[in-house]
Amino acid sequence: MKKIITLSLLAMLPLMAQVEKKIEVPYIAFPIKMGKGFDTVQANCLMCHSFGYIINQGREPRTFWRGKIHKMIAEFKAPISEKDAKIIEDYLFKHYGNGKEQ
Ligand code: HEC
Repeated sequence: MKKIITLSLLAMLPLMAQVEKKIEVPYIAFPIKMGKGFDTVQANCLMCHSFGYIINQGREPRTFWRGKIHKMIAEFKAPISEKDAKIIEDYLFKHYGNGKEQ
């Protein structure tokens, strides 16, 4: 995500150079929680839909997230390895979990 922000800022550089006033770039709070495993989620979960589908579920137990990941694999043929599935499960449980295993 940082890369995208950096790239879009770079793309805006020629525009900025022509403006004489100081520009304040607004701080936009990004709702996604970064952290260990986020890159794996990004690589495996965001190819079909946005992060909204994940965030909208609210806080859920570990089994819920495990179930969703395997639903994506079984029903929608998401190409996610077992190893990545576990990393994603840990990430989702840590950031969007309710602290309960089931
Ligand atoms: C191959 C495409 C694909 C990938 C990859 C994928 N999803 Fe989905 N996902 C879907 C589709 C299609 C729906 C919409 C189902 C619907 O609208 O009923 C969905 C819906 C969801 C939902 C909404 C609840 C539900 O049960 O429908 C959640 C949560 C979700 N995905 C999480 C994930 C997570 C976490 C990952 C990564 C592990 C992931 N998805 C990767 C296709 C995918």
